[in-house]
Amino acid sequence: MDPMVPHPYKIRRVIKETHDTFTLELKSDTSGGKFSFNAGQFNMLYLFGIGEVPISISGDPNKIETLVHTTRAVGTVTKEMAKLKRGDVIGVRGPYGTNWPITEAIGNDVVIIAGGIGLAPLRPAIHQIISQRKNYGKIILLYGTRTPADILFRRELEKLKSRLDIDIYVTVDHATREWSGNVGVVTTLIPRAPFDPINTTAIICGPEIMMRYTISELIKRGVPNENIFLSIERNMKCGVGLCGHCQYGTKFICKDGPVFSYAQIKHLFGKREL
Ligand SMILES: Cc1cc2nc3c(=O)[nH]c(=O)nc-3n(C[C@H](O)[C@H](O)[C@H](O)COP(=O)(O)OP(=O)(O)OC[C@H]3O[C@@H](n4cnc5c(N)ncnc54)[C@H](O)[C@@H]3O)c2cc1C
Ligand code: FES
Repeated sequence: MDPMVPHPYKIRRVIKETHDTFTLELKSDTSGGKFSFNAGQFNMLYLFGIGEVPISISGDPNKIETLVHTTRAVGTVTKEMAKLKRGDVIGVRGPYGTNWPITEAIGNDVVIIAGGIGLAPLRPAIHQIISQRKNYGKIILLYGTRTPADILFRRELEKLKSRLDIDIYVTVDHATREWSGNVGVVTTLIPRAPFDPINTTAIICGPEIMMRYTISELIKRGVPNENIFLSIERNMKCGVGLCGHCQYGTKFICKDGPVFSYAQIKHLFGKREL
């Protein structure tokens, strides 16, 4: 199949997650209705006549009958995408890119650290790790958003919180009167999170500045560089390593990433334009 040709997917369900973020559940009529992917991979979503954007898959890798994407409306394409309704059709190319180190983390504690919309690309990893719970040590989710209204997948988080074998800490930068949880940036949760640094795999997704401070806190705790993984975002065009749009030093984010170990990109990370 030509990797540059989008396939039509029909929208089966639209879920409004927050004021600016929505989830689309999609189904193909042509590919036998199944979409296999690895946690951390993304698709190029094409809004006919408007444009194409890379969006991570946010569904459960064990449930391949429905393709799920969670998107924040920030600009030209994503704001139009936010207007789509059940029954509308969009183009899908993918899955592309590297995945979260689900297998490599076996035997370790797993610390999942998300900022804002960053919880969406991490959600498939959470599903997969939980479905193989006995393979891991402690599982800890640290999630930070700007305000309580920005918290994604609330019901799912509540359900996870009721489990005794997963630790979930949510924090907000700015509290409202009804909020009785943590206040402060997500990095403030790291020093007291109960994981064994040497035997920990950390997976991180969020704004780059948040990931920078998060990595610094993890290293302070003693987590090795090669056990820290992050997903990097840049503008993309082809998504398959042909156009050079997403070049990151000697790497292409679409093909060599978006998930990298910190050890791989330490020399590039934090530089604004490469
Ligand atoms: C591998 C990969 C995976 C991604 N996964 C997701 C995902 O799961 N969910 C999701 O919502 N987004 C995701 N993104 C980001 C998404 O691709 C961009 O938000 C999108 O391309 C913006 O396109 P646009 O046409 O709507 O905005 P544009 O018209 O290109 O941008 C308009 C304005 O928004 C600003 N802007 C652009 N992107 C962002 C951003 N990410 N955050 C804040 N401001 C921004 C621009 O600086 C500009 O000012 C991912 C990106 C990559 C590379
Ligand atoms: S988007 Fe074309 S090379 Fe990565």
